[in-house]
Amino acid sequence: MFASGGGPDAPHRPVLLAESIRYLAPEQGGLFLDATLGLGGHSEALLEASPGVRVLGIDRDPEALRFARARLARFDERFRAVQANFKEFAGVLKDAGEERLSGVLADLGVSSLQFDSVERGFSFRHDAPLDMRMNAGDDEEETAAELLARLPEEEIARIIFEYGEERKSRRIARWIVERREAGEAIQTTTELAALVARAVGYKRTDRIHPATRTFQALRIAVNHELEGLEEFLEASIDLLQPSGRLVVISFHSLEDRIVKRALRRLAGQCECDPRLPVCACGARRAVEILTRRPVTPTEAELDENPRARSAKLRACRKLEDVASLKAT
Ligand SMILES: C[S@@+](CC[C@H](N)C(=O)[O-])C[C@H]1O[C@@H](n2cnc3c(N)ncnc32)[C@H](O)[C@@H]1O
Repeated sequence: MFASGGGPDAPHRPVLLAESIRYLAPEQGGLFLDATLGLGGHSEALLEASPGVRVLGIDRDPEALRFARARLARFDERFRAVQANFKEFAGVLKDAGEERLSGVLADLGVSSLQFDSVERGFSFRHDAPLDMRMNAGDDEEETAAELLARLPEEEIARIIFEYGEERKSRRIARWIVERREAGEAIQTTTELAALVARAVGYKRTDRIHPATRTFQALRIAVNHELEGLEEFLEASIDLLQPSGRLVVISFHSLEDRIVKRALRRLAGQCECDPRLPVCACGARRAVEILTRRPVTPTEAELDENPRARSAKLRACRKLEDVASLKAT
């Protein structure tokens, strides 16, 4: 088990920490929603930024919640944590008796605590059951092994291609299904990693292990990571008070594309065919985008934390007077 608390030995280093806090602008205080609490690194910095800050943290992972609660206990009533999917955050807010938010942070993906917990099966560096559920222990959710045992070959190939951007997705899917048909369905991380390495042909000079993309794809599929993100972003703007900030950190090009397009629509940039008489894409002038280009980690951060390498931060500020639905 890990010790609680931050510092260089904490089991997860918060990514783009200074940049996130700058864009969230917590100096005036108020209630902030940390939609992906994880180990509480960003929440801790928010709570330290001003005594007027309160944080409501959400995570679907009970282990992350245990850690964050211990780490942030010293902030007493200024910090609360709830186990939930951030898709349900409006209900969580209501149950907590809160109405308006000063800021929302979503730091998407997995934490190092999850990734490095051998038995949770996120990594091919250790032999473990192929699980990958963020809400470990929730028996209603399918594990990665169960997904590979059930899905048709074309669907496995689609997941590996779309979420992993793996060019040899069809070949990998074929090998997985052949093995399943031979009565030897994949059960463990190392079985899958070895199969992928053989299917794609592993060269010692390869920069990354050939199974990296397949593992990422499966993790996204098991946890439905892209579903509901757009709705969450829209709903979080509705619950922000005027001038409130939304900051999103993504680690995958598909995620970043969803965030970028949602922020553009919320800033009133209509995506419809200009020949249409009225806007049908839902664009409205509700926010000002604060990051014309995504903010990425500095070389210094990457030297200290290579896991930050694909991070992209986008931020916006809710307008004082939100215009009604745009029709141009
Ligand atoms: C990158 S970590 C956050 C790390 C955190 N900012 C910190 O500094 O410690 C992402 C966290 O989001 C959680 N998570 C991912 N998708 C979620 C969802 N849809 N609802 C709730 N939590 C989610 C994961 O369980 C994980 O703990």
